[in-house]
Amino acid sequence: MDSFEINKIVACVLVVALVFIGLANFSEILYHVEKPEVAAYQVEGAEDMVVSASAAMADDTATAEPEIPIQTLLASADIEKGAKVFKKCSQCHVVEKGGANKIGPALWDIVNKDIGSKEDYKYSNAMAAYGGNWTYEQLNGYLLNPKKYIEGTKMSFVGLKKEKDRANVILYLRSFSDNPAPIE
Ligand code: HEC
Repeated sequence: MDSFEINKIVACVLVVALVFIGLANFSEILYHVEKPEVAAYQVEGAEDMVVSASAAMADDTATAEPEIPIQTLLASADIEKGAKVFKKCSQCHVVEKGGANKIGPALWDIVNKDIGSKEDYKYSNAMAAYGGNWTYEQLNGYLLNPKKYIEGTKMSFVGLKKEKDRANVILYLRSFSDNPAPIE
């Protein structure tokens, strides 16, 4: 084999290598041009679906009964977040021991208490006559949509649409008692 032949072989190898690199680049160009367009389109569509799905869900919860059992939610509820949610209530309610009635009745020891039972507070007829006690389920239903749950209640509050907000605030209310009710 002379050096001329070796040169030819080297040239061949180089050409093959160049063709490969060229092909690789070409497919990369294809990949780069096509992939993002397709992906962007798909993500947009998917997002629309998610948005409309959650909008539909929000509509549902505004009218429907609570879906997830409150005990399940309470098990993973966060009392600090409940304190923040309670800011929406504190305009009308005090929850500390010995707290006075405001626009709404004081809420110390409210879990499992008889509904509408504070002697020193003037309830609406609807709430005074409602009966039963403030179990977790009753609180969860009432706080979702007060006016719908107890028709004629004078609590002017739109309700807490998010399950977690209700669970967090109920866990917070529960802690204001000498003997917090068990979560079973
Ligand atoms: C705008 C004032 C207002 C806001 C805000 C408000 N409430 Fe009330 N709440 C009332 C009034 C008034 C009543 C008495 C309702 C009746 O007599 O029909 C009441 C009653 C209640 C009762 C029944 C108490 C009992 O003694 O039986 C509970 C429980 C309650 N509210 C919890 C809450 C929680 C929790 C929030 C916040 C998420 C909240 N409320 C927000 C005004 C309010």
